[in-house]
Amino acid sequence: MNIGVIGCGYWGPNLIRNFNAMDNTTVVAVADKRKERLEFISKQFPSIKTLTTEANEILQSPKIDAIVIATPVSTHFPLGMEALAHGKHLLLEKPFTATVEQAEKLIEEAEKRNLRLMVDHTFIYTGAVQTIKKYIDNGDLGELYYFDSVRVNLGLFQHDVNVIWDLAPHDVSIMDYLLERKPKAISATGMAHFDSSIENIAYISTYYENNLLGHIHVNWLAPVKVRKTLISGSKKMIIYDDMEPSEKVKVYDKGVDIIKDKEQIYDMRVQYRTGDMIAPQIDLTEALKKISQEFYDAINENRDSLTDGKAGLRVVQILEAANKSIKANGKVIEL
Ligand SMILES: NC(=O)c1ccc[n+]([C@@H]2O[C@H](COP(=O)([O-])OP(=O)(O)OC[C@H]3O[C@@H](n4cnc5c(N)ncnc54)[C@H](O)[C@@H]3O)[C@@H](O)[C@H]2O)c1
Repeated sequence: MNIGVIGCGYWGPNLIRNFNAMDNTTVVAVADKRKERLEFISKQFPSIKTLTTEANEILQSPKIDAIVIATPVSTHFPLGMEALAHGKHLLLEKPFTATVEQAEKLIEEAEKRNLRLMVDHTFIYTGAVQTIKKYIDNGDLGELYYFDSVRVNLGLFQHDVNVIWDLAPHDVSIMDYLLERKPKAISATGMAHFDSSIENIAYISTYYENNLLGHIHVNWLAPVKVRKTLISGSKKMIIYDDMEPSEKVKVYDKGVDIIKDKEQIYDMRVQYRTGDMIAPQIDLTEALKKISQEFYDAINENRDSLTDGKAGLRVVQILEAANKSIKANGKVIEL
């Protein structure tokens, strides 16, 4: 399968490396507006013969079966639509699109043409998230109470999108995948500093049925890098720390039991459970390797991928609502 990649700044080269490493796919062409990036690609991957500053050359090439787009989010929709219009299967970087409307249009276009449309929600393909998913699906955590995620570091300040569009797609996509339900409502607060209108810190709350609460904290102005998620249920709790080299997931047999006294119905006793902690073995295969394989398999088997356009849309719905809420000082936005 011949792959064309558009955008080879920071992230694109990782996609090129993984698609080139696979037996069934070859990156035959790369486009980037910046010549220096193409020179870098020519040194790293000398087998790629077509290197162009014109994305159209790739979008229109009859030799190319599928296109991978790793450009800034504002370009995802126009480039993606063009790729689909030329009959190419499409893998788009996160965030899928800049608006819900764009996401819906891409999905419609791909369906009309029976083309595969996928989004790179990288973390879904990590061993850590796959392990957590198994615990939740097996019912090991019991009834879910909350999902609480922190993703903070110093920089990289973006010029075109705020911290929500930059960092939160990761947490929102993980939350969407693990919880498998849509929030009823969202509220968010955020702040822009340095005479800019682009928020560099934000807190997003998502409200679900049955008292399940989601919370995401993203920040470009933190002294240290933190990537930590807490998931709590009635039976067990999980801490997922992506900065840990090996024991990324820890499952705690901890919680509280409420004992209601039958004689005095208003008397509630809280009993704390503190059992063992286990750190399950997790698969450390690079997520992008699995994404490349999934994209190829979905095309080959003519099926939806694990992170298809609809997954991209669900995440964009939350990001868009969070941004609306920030502009309205934290107003609750019903979904
Ligand atoms: N999945 C992940 O973990 C992950 C990590 C980083 C970035 N990303 C995503 O990847 C995308 C790119 O991010 P980045 O950090 O690599 O940005 P970047 O600015 O480093 O690279 C983007 C490149 O796209 C090129 N470009 C822009 N418009 C173009 C066009 N019309 N035609 C050809 N080339 C064009 C630019 O010249 C630039 O080199 C973003 O959507 C970002 O959110 C995903």
